[in-house]
Amino acid sequence: MRIGDIPVDPPVLLAPMAAVTDLPFRTVCEEFGVGLTITEFLSAHALSVGDPKTTGKLTASLDGRRFGVQIFGREESMMADAAKLAVSIGASLVDINMGCPAKRVVAGECGSALMREPQIAQTLVRAVVNAVPAHVPVTVKHRAGWNQDNRNAPEFACAMVEAGAKMITVHGRTRTQGFSGKSDPEIIKLVRDAVPSHIPVVGNGDVLDVEGYVRMREQTGCDAVMIGRGAMGNPWLFARLREVCAGRPDPGPPGLEERLAVYRRHVGLIETLRGGPRTLHEVRKACAWYARGLYGCNALRLRVWETPDLATARSLVEDYFTQLIERQSRLGLAPEMGAGRDEIDGDPGAATTAASASVAGEAA
Ligand SMILES: Cc1cc2nc3c(=O)[nH]c(=O)nc-3n(C[C@H](O)[C@H](O)[C@H](O)COP(=O)(O)O)c2cc1C
Repeated sequence: MRIGDIPVDPPVLLAPMAAVTDLPFRTVCEEFGVGLTITEFLSAHALSVGDPKTTGKLTASLDGRRFGVQIFGREESMMADAAKLAVSIGASLVDINMGCPAKRVVAGECGSALMREPQIAQTLVRAVVNAVPAHVPVTVKHRAGWNQDNRNAPEFACAMVEAGAKMITVHGRTRTQGFSGKSDPEIIKLVRDAVPSHIPVVGNGDVLDVEGYVRMREQTGCDAVMIGRGAMGNPWLFARLREVCAGRPDPGPPGLEERLAVYRRHVGLIETLRGGPRTLHEVRKACAWYARGLYGCNALRLRVWETPDLATARSLVEDYFTQLIERQSRLGLAPEMGAGRDEIDGDPGAATTAASASVAGEAA
């Protein structure tokens, strides 16, 4: 799959996610072979006035790897300035967010609100296309439509392409759905059918595993799949998809040692690339992600959440995995069986899911 002149192989993208797709997590996903990562959405206004918190999130991928920057806004000049900034740090593409359902974004008539104003949305795409060099594709990510009665994604996508968009990503929910209900593959298929065939259409929504990827490709005819929540604490999904896309067998889920190794890598990146007072919070998040679904994970998460100290948090996680690995070999279980669902502690994913939902409600 190509976006303009940019190859994306395998045809799998990491979804932009506020407070999730920071540089450490993007790096881990890139190391596992995702086709392309995109920053979380960044306010064009904040970038254009040099707000340090927002410019701090404008980060280039490591080792010269390609990456995209996602921006949102409504002012042509600010969108143009933000796009130029993105290109100045080496972005391979600039994606425009026209799907965010959050109240504060929609109140500013940005994000998914633009799906109700295709002409304004077109002026923004044109402004960004004119601001960046010809080799930098401008792309748009949007939803199925505003609500059930206004599912205008196919017409909207065509209007964006007419204005110069070189790739369309569709999350198959409406704005009013937020993250409830299901992403609808049918609307993604309608977009694929409507948009000229040389423009890639990326299907997005509810893909959690290899089967979900295959289903999305088959049901919609999309050229690539974008994965968000399914990659949180599960970056090896990209390695599995890379193998499957190359026609090789699915290597399957990771064992405990692999989980621990990737957790360590992720935390190491958080410490070196982010640092600062938020480090403990980020490490707690990583702990919840990588222990999710494992025996005793909820008790671990509570202990890590309670400790005010980074070193203690890290050793709690190390001890947890060491004991789990020991338990697994003592009980003679196959690699994944020691990593069974946490039946004692209840829903193992609760905290992460709740945290995601609250961030998503705010920012996605
Ligand atoms: C925590 C969180 C933050 C998100 N932030 C963004 C964002 O910054 N930009 C964006 O276009 N979509 C954002 N989204 C939406 C995702 O990119 C994606 O469209 C959505 O989660 C559906 O895909 P999934 O089912 O694979 O997660 C966010 C979603 C979540 C859960």
